Amino acid sequence: MKRIYLDHAATTPVDDRVLKAMQPYLCERFGNASSIHRIGQEAKEALEKSRQIIADKINAHPSEIVFTSGGTESNNFALKGVAFSNRDKGRHIITTRVEHDCVLNSCRWLETQGFKVTYLGVDENGMVRPDDIRQAITKDTLAVSVIHGNNEVGTIAPIREIGKICREKGVYFHTDACQSFTKVPIDVEKDYLDMLTINAHKIYGPKGVGALYIKKGTTIDAWQHGGGHERNLRSGTENIPGIVGFAKAVEIACKSDVVQMTEFRDILITRVLSEIADSSLRGHPAHRLCNNATFSFSGIEGESLLLRLDMHGIACSTGSACSSHTLEPSHVLMAMGLSHEDAHSSLRFSVGKENTAEDIEHTVDMLKKEVGLLRKMSPVGGMDVQ
Ligand SMILES: Cc1ncc(COP(=O)(O)O)c(C=O)c1O
Repeated sequence: MKRIYLDHAATTPVDDRVLKAMQPYLCERFGNASSIHRIGQEAKEALEKSRQIIADKINAHPSEIVFTSGGTESNNFALKGVAFSNRDKGRHIITTRVEHDCVLNSCRWLETQGFKVTYLGVDENGMVRPDDIRQAITKDTLAVSVIHGNNEVGTIAPIREIGKICREKGVYFHTDACQSFTKVPIDVEKDYLDMLTINAHKIYGPKGVGALYIKKGTTIDAWQHGGGHERNLRSGTENIPGIVGFAKAVEIACKSDVVQMTEFRDILITRVLSEIADSSLRGHPAHRLCNNATFSFSGIEGESLLLRLDMHGIACSTGSACSSHTLEPSHVLMAMGLSHEDAHSSLRFSVGKENTAEDIEHTVDMLKKEVGLLRKMSPVGGMDVQ
């Protein structure tokens, strides 16, 4: 049975070219970038070259890039680092109800440390309203953090508009771009960004590596203390193979992959909505990530459908991979105003560059079949698949 992976928002396989770029740094070029000898300096060169590639991609200066262990660490660092460093100036942070758990839980923890957090709502498409941000900013506000491409429903937030408001009001602006990086253009200058979270494993790079862009002049405390690596902002021996792989993944990310993912996403959306009765698309119909197609299927339990598709070799998700161990409905779908039933009947398909047109066609065929079967089996069933 062919396996069809449609869970690229959870993670992606490492691209062969990325693996090839990393391999020498695991074995013969294994040096510690802090060592003075030649082997160490080779590692240091690879580190700085990678930093340059990533900085160029977002129109930043290499000195503004701090490597981390991934998106979770970057988001923790951005929020806690700025909050503590600036706590004499203010104690208020603004975010939204549709952030990744690592932002929400960092904010909840900051509340226990004397900070005040506003969690803004979103509309039915999962879109935050820039005007709500403008109105929520007070004299006490230090920072605003808004997710760029939503990991569950794919909605893309208007970060440039939000960034402009924050800049005018003198408030730091951070965005979590783990899902959008290399899919949606990001320019830290034009988007008025002070901090930007990115990671490698969503873009065919390795797991356990990411970065935080920190605009020059931003006041931020280190969150991980030690030997003073990364300009004293993030100590710990640099993960050179991971960082080299991250840079390679950025280098090979291309427009044609985005075009192809968009095409497959759209086939998936069009076929599902037209061929499966009582199915709805979640997230913004137009402003959405090129790889995200999230649906609700009335009367269906999402988890059961996921398991039945898995038996056909098709991998998708009932929401954020990180929170799929809980039985709680997705906080993102709830923030968008869905009922518990509709939230529980949702499935996320996220396409990748290695998918084929046949993968998509087969997935829709299996979905039609399984939704039909589950509805027939349901005690309240009776809804037919078109
Ligand atoms: C939007 C978003 N932010 C943060 C993360 C966490 O990133 P990482 O897995 O690199 O810690 C993820 C991935 O799960 C994500 O999708």
